[in-house]
Amino acid sequence: MITSIPHGGTLIQRFEPNYSVNNLTHEIELDAIAISDLELIGIGAYSPLTGFLNRDNYLSVVEHMRLTDGNPWSIPITLPVTREQADRLQLGDQVKLVKEGMVYGVLTLEEKFVPDKNLEAEKVYRTLDVAHPGVKKLFERGEVYLGGDVVLIKRPNKSFATYHLDPVETRQAFADRGWKTIVGFQTRNPVHRAHEYIQKTALETVDGLFLNPLVGETKSDDIPADVRMESYEVLLDRYYPKERVFLAVFPAAMRYAGPREAIFHALVRKNYGCTHFIVGRDHAGVGNYYGTYDAQKIFSEFDPGELGIQPLFFEHAFFCEACGNMATPKSCPHNSEHHVALSGTKVREMLRNGDRPPATFSRREVADVLIKGFSKSSVTTS
Ligand code: ADX
Repeated sequence: MITSIPHGGTLIQRFEPNYSVNNLTHEIELDAIAISDLELIGIGAYSPLTGFLNRDNYLSVVEHMRLTDGNPWSIPITLPVTREQADRLQLGDQVKLVKEGMVYGVLTLEEKFVPDKNLEAEKVYRTLDVAHPGVKKLFERGEVYLGGDVVLIKRPNKSFATYHLDPVETRQAFADRGWKTIVGFQTRNPVHRAHEYIQKTALETVDGLFLNPLVGETKSDDIPADVRMESYEVLLDRYYPKERVFLAVFPAAMRYAGPREAIFHALVRKNYGCTHFIVGRDHAGVGNYYGTYDAQKIFSEFDPGELGIQPLFFEHAFFCEACGNMATPKSCPHNSEHHVALSGTKVREMLRNGDRPPATFSRREVADVLIKGFSKSSVTTS
């Protein structure tokens, strides 16, 4: 049976605002990915992780999608540094984790190791191509990984403060509403009709819908998080039942690791209290690196139940002019000439020119938010 027990059994809590750093001399400057990972470890979103992976866990995750204790885990959560930085540190050191002069956490250094990044790219991203944004980032980051437990001392600036809830808070919010079954929705894109269709179709079968847009680092041509959040606000205001929907941000960085990231996204939403998780077409994909349904197929590599969250798979959704409604190839008998299909490039071009895409693709209210966003943003590529 599906329950919302945290992954590994316990919701990790490692936020210690009073932790003293007075006598600590070593420090490491965090990049955007590392600081978001530190926060997500600290608040238990990455339960059962208590720190950055040591070598054995790292290898086990890369090769087998499991931690050494057998728990499924698909994305290596690592702390890369330069060789010079690593050389200055001794095992056992308490290392301040800083960004722009502020201390956000402390790492107890258990291990330093040099990863095989080709292997990591091959296994996690299924490509060595540095044109892949996740692979590019992997190779840009430091060549030595630091492993060890962390404490989170200071919360990074909470963007979207009212929507920034920790797993302990979302779990409580779901319980307060009496929800027993909750479906989580990951997204890094502006909401369109296909998203709405699969969200609401899923909601028909569960108690609550947890909309959880990712607001951490994304590639530069993705739509900025504030624009995406505003598009959710206008949509929820008019088209969603307030008592059945909960909106909160997911402050993680995007990896674009497709199938592997779908597993990771599901496990993290389990920690936020979800019992179900939506995986549509090309989940967390980029370019043509993954097959349309690879992110669904990967779930069959785990025994039913061992992930502890039920994936809900959706085929490619579209508006069908002949049906007169949203559908997928599963439910629509008409061929593609009846389907409203707009490429991302085309939609961006329309929005940039101040034109609304058809209402069958994007709600008018959402289109207006996006047009406004494009008019003041630096998003220029397609
Ligand atoms: S993602 O990188 O976060 O996956 P996006 O925000 O576009 O990107 O997608 C959010 C979720 O909606 C993912 O599960 C994705 O597979 C699904 N999805 C997006 N567009 C469609 C569509 N047209 N049909 C079916 N599923 C979709």
